[in-house]
Amino acid sequence: MTTQVNQKIDNKRTTATLARISPHEPALVVDRVYKRFNAASDPIWRRVWSALRKQNGQNGVADDTNGSAGSGAHGAARKARRGKELVTAVDNVSFTVERREIFGVLGPNGSGKSTLIRLLSTLLVPDEGHIRVFGLDVVKEEMQVKRLINRVSVEAAFFKKLSPRENLLYGARLYGVSGKEADRKARAILKRLGLKDSSYNAPMEDMSRGMQQKVAIARAFLTQPVVLLLDEPTTGLDPRSKLEVQAFVNELRNVHDATILITTHDMNEADALCDRIAILDDGKIVALDTPKNLKRSVRRNGHEPTLEDVFMQLTGKELVEKDDVEDFQPEPILAG
Ligand SMILES: Nc1ncnc2c1ncn2[C@@H]1O[C@H](COP(=O)(O)OP(=O)(O)OP(=O)(O)O)[C@@H](O)[C@H]1O
Ligand SMILES: [Mg+2]
Repeated sequence: MTTQVNQKIDNKRTTATLARISPHEPALVVDRVYKRFNAASDPIWRRVWSALRKQNGQNGVADDTNGSAGSGAHGAARKARRGKELVTAVDNVSFTVERREIFGVLGPNGSGKSTLIRLLSTLLVPDEGHIRVFGLDVVKEEMQVKRLINRVSVEAAFFKKLSPRENLLYGARLYGVSGKEADRKARAILKRLGLKDSSYNAPMEDMSRGMQQKVAIARAFLTQPVVLLLDEPTTGLDPRSKLEVQAFVNELRNVHDATILITTHDMNEADALCDRIAILDDGKIVALDTPKNLKRSVRRNGHEPTLEDVFMQLTGKELVEKDDVEDFQPEPILAG
């Protein structure tokens, strides 16, 4: 059974915000954006151990100032340990997402995908550059931007003692959706995602991670956002639920003209869903094109290139970096 997530935008302020937007504005504009973080300092045991080793004339573990920067996320972390104290999570990133586009962002762990989504959703402020959502600046017009976007992330926040029903009604009311309407839609969406009726009124803390993820997805689709930012929405979901989420995403775009930016580690999902894909590595965009063109751009290894080949060739370099092998100290195996 398919239940359309049909809802007119009944929040007056959202409608007013949309009315002021020029029809020619792209949905998202990211313009030369940087985001840096102070790296966490080394734990105290490492600093003490390092100081003791230095006293004894040996190189300390934390004193790797002559080490190579490496590449990928490990590289970013290492640069920070080398005394620069900064991780550049988003490094001079620029792109535009057109209205009704499904735009994918792929990249290895730590490449900056979630940071980018948090910047787009006003949860973080860029250090440099500008981000506009339908022409509205995410820093200067934060409240208006917030009305247009909704974000789903793998680590969704809920009132864990409350049930999905209570959490979803609370979320929907914040967006101006009536309780009765929200209840009807929430049940329909969760049924489609395969969440049992009995779980609807049970505390969230008793649910598995995948079940909680379904509630997070339902919360985003309930309020029919104009821009949906999905940070690994299908991570941890079973294959059937994954396909349902992908169908929801398509429906939201096809029926409700939403613009969607999605991150995923599932290459098949990205290939099937996305109109265009940006590949991030170490905070930088290393490729941006349609899945078809990306696949055309890589070497053939005796088979038709897949998006996984693209990912590996652009970001993989070596699966295990040389420095990581050198750093690795195996735990002694204690004979029983
Ligand atoms: N709040 C923070 N404080 C310090 N460093 C951070 C913070 N958030 C992210 N980082 C760092 O920024 C870099 C990018 O992290 P981010 O979470 O954006 O990566 P990601 O691409 O989403 O990774 P994953 O695929 O694992 O979700 C990493 O080096 C990370 O350690
Ligand atoms: Mg992430």
